[in-house]
Amino acid sequence: MSIDLPLHRLHLDHWDRPADEDDGVLLARCVGPTLDVGCGPGRLTAALAERGVVVLGIDVVHGAVDRTRDRGGAALRRDVFDTLPGEGRWETALLADGNVGIGGDPVALLERLREVLDPRGRVVAEVAAPGTPHVDDWATLECGGEQQVIRWSVVGTEDIDRVALEAGLAVIERVQLGERWCVVLEEPT
Ligand SMILES: C[S@@+](CC[C@H](N)C(=O)[O-])C[C@H]1O[C@@H](n2cnc3c(N)ncnc32)[C@H](O)[C@@H]1O
Repeated sequence: MSIDLPLHRLHLDHWDRPADEDDGVLLARCVGPTLDVGCGPGRLTAALAERGVVVLGIDVVHGAVDRTRDRGGAALRRDVFDTLPGEGRWETALLADGNVGIGGDPVALLERLREVLDPRGRVVAEVAAPGTPHVDDWATLECGGEQQVIRWSVVGTEDIDRVALEAGLAVIERVQLGERWCVVLEEPT
């Protein structure tokens, strides 16, 4: 699997690596039943399951779902914008490795996740480093013989407050994981 952008090219091998110490910081923020949105080969779905967290990975790519299951994670081939199991009851939606870009409209994605989450739930999202310009574009997904073109955005740390606010959420935590950045979003109280 790879995502091809004018600026980025990501390979499945990159996502197949085991969860590392920095991922652990991200995973520690996944509270309660967790939906791993765009789980890829499932390294984080499997890591959460190993921690005893109830977790479901969803992905639009068959091969990604198969790999997630192979490593012991529960996964469904499902578009996040389609009907999902447990709508309105998930406590965390995980958007790891830039997945806040899924759909090419980050506000629409976060609004969709508010439907999927319990009203007291949270989004744990990895965003791009400071200084990264906002990009709304197309991406090519490849996994084995499977290939599909999807809408894709890049959202950086400077953009996420505005994007969250437009979707009715607020940034309640911002953490740096080595060279990576994670935010936690919740409905304002
Ligand atoms: C950057 S990879 C992230 C992989 C994984 N989260 C990780 O960190 O190891 C993006 C994944 O999102 C999936 N994806 C893209 N659009 C999607 C959609 N609309 N619904 C569900 N998954 C989607 C892709 O198939 C791909 O596996």
